[in-house]
Amino acid sequence: MRLLKNIFFFRGFEYVSKQKLKEKLKSMVKLTAGGTVAFYGIGLWSNNAKFYESMVMPAVRWLDPETAHRAAVLAAKYGLVPRDRSPDLAVLRTSLWGLEFDNPVGLAAGFDKHGEACDGMLDVGFGFVEVGSVTPEPQPGNPQPRVFRLEEDDAVINRYGFNSEGHAAVVERLRARREAGGLVGVNLGKNKLSADAAADYVAGVNAFAGLASYFVVNVSSPNTPGLRELQKGDDLERLLDSVLEARDAACPPPGRPPVLLKIAPDLSAEQRQHVAQCALARKERLGGLIVSNTTISRDAGLRSPHAAETGGLSGRPLQKLSTDAVADMYRLTNGEIPIVGVGGVFSGEDAYQKVRAGASLVQLYTSLAVCGPPIVGEIKRQLAELLTADGFNSVSEAVGADHRPGKTPTNSAAKQGRAVSEQIRADLRTAAGS
Ligand SMILES: Cc1cc2nc3c(=O)[nH]c(=O)nc-3n(C[C@H](O)[C@H](O)[C@H](O)COP(=O)(O)O)c2cc1C
Repeated sequence: MRLLKNIFFFRGFEYVSKQKLKEKLKSMVKLTAGGTVAFYGIGLWSNNAKFYESMVMPAVRWLDPETAHRAAVLAAKYGLVPRDRSPDLAVLRTSLWGLEFDNPVGLAAGFDKHGEACDGMLDVGFGFVEVGSVTPEPQPGNPQPRVFRLEEDDAVINRYGFNSEGHAAVVERLRARREAGGLVGVNLGKNKLSADAAADYVAGVNAFAGLASYFVVNVSSPNTPGLRELQKGDDLERLLDSVLEARDAACPPPGRPPVLLKIAPDLSAEQRQHVAQCALARKERLGGLIVSNTTISRDAGLRSPHAAETGGLSGRPLQKLSTDAVADMYRLTNGEIPIVGVGGVFSGEDAYQKVRAGASLVQLYTSLAVCGPPIVGEIKRQLAELLTADGFNSVSEAVGADHRPGKTPTNSAAKQGRAVSEQIRADLRTAAGS
C-alpha cells in the first residue's frame, strides 16, 4: 500500500502533496468541463450542419422520441437554438394573402403544439411558424408511447391524438409575444369528446382572432376518431362555411387572416375532387389548402421495426405521396387556390419539386427532427440555387411550373441539390451507427 502511494504521488524527482494534487485535479476537471461546454456551445450556436450531424443528433437519439421533442421545444422556448444569421436571398421572398414571407419554408404543425417555441423557431430561419393543433379545452391525448422514430426510413409515426393545453393557455402565450412579430399561424383541432366539431373550430377562430397570421382547419389528423370524416361530403361544406363566417365576423379587413384547409394524402380521387370543388366554390373567401398531413398508408419498402405502429407516418416515405397530392390539387383547382406543400421535405430539391407541383409555400417537420435546425438554412440555400439555375426570379414564378409546357424539370443544379441531401443523410446514418 505504502509502495503504491509512493508511486502515485511520485513525479519525476519531487513528491507532490495530496493537497496540491487535489487542486491540480480540480483545475483539470474545470478546464475539461469548460472546454466541453465551450465546444458544444459554439457548435450549437454556430448552426453548423456537420456538428449537428455528428454530435447533437446522435445524442438526441438516446432520448425517447417524445422526450427529445419536449427537449427541443424547451430549447427553442429558452433561445437555446442556433440562429440563422444570413439574411434570406431576394429570390426566396414571396407574398401571399397580403402577408410578406422572407422565405417560403415554414415549420409545420405539431412541433410547437402549445405556442411556446415560435420565436425560437423563427430565429432558426423559418419564414413562418404554425402553432398547434390546439383544441378548445385542454386534453391529454393518447397514452404513451405515441411517437416512434423510423430511423432506417427517415420517418416518424405519431399518434399523439391532439394533446393540447387548450385555447386559453395558447392565447395567453401568443398575446405575450405579439410585439415580437413574425408570421405565426394557428392550426385548430377539435376535442376528442366534443359533440359539435364545427363549434370547436369556430371557437378557435374567435379565440385567436387578432393573434394568428392565418388559421388552419385541421380535419386530417389520423389520431382523433371521426376527424377525417369532416373532409367529406356536406360535413366539409358546412364546416368551411361556419369557420369562414366566424372569421369574417371576428376579423375585420384589412389584415383579415386567411383560412386554410389541411387535408390528408390518403383521400381518394373522388374525395380530392370534392375538396377541390368546395375550395373553388369559396375561392374569394378560402385562403387555400395545406397538402398534406401524415399518411395512414404504409409503403411495403419501409425497413424500420416500428413501421407497423398505428398512427400517421411522416418524413421521407411521405414525400412523393404528398407532392403528387399537391400536383393533383393544383390541377383540380386550376391553379386558382394557393397550396402549402408539406411532407418529406429534406432538401432544397424536395421543396422545389413541391413548388413546381403547385405549392406557393412549403412546410416541414420530420426533417427537422432527423437533421436538426441547420437543415432549414440548407434547404433555403439549395432552393435559391435551384430557382436561380432554372431562370426564376422568385418563388412565385416557379409555382406550378411542372403544369406548364416548356420548362425542363431538372438541371445540373437540381442534381447537385439531390447529391447534397443524399450526402447529409448518409453522414447521419454513419453517425447514428457509430
Ligand atoms: C410528431 C408529429 C406531430 C404532428 N402533429 C400535428 C398536429 O397537431 N396537427 C397537424 O395538422 N399536423 C400535425 N403533424 C403533421 C405535420 O404537420 C405534417 O403535415 C406532416 O408531418 C408531414 O410533414 P413532414 O414529413 O415534414 O413531417 C404532426 C407530425 C408529427 C411528425
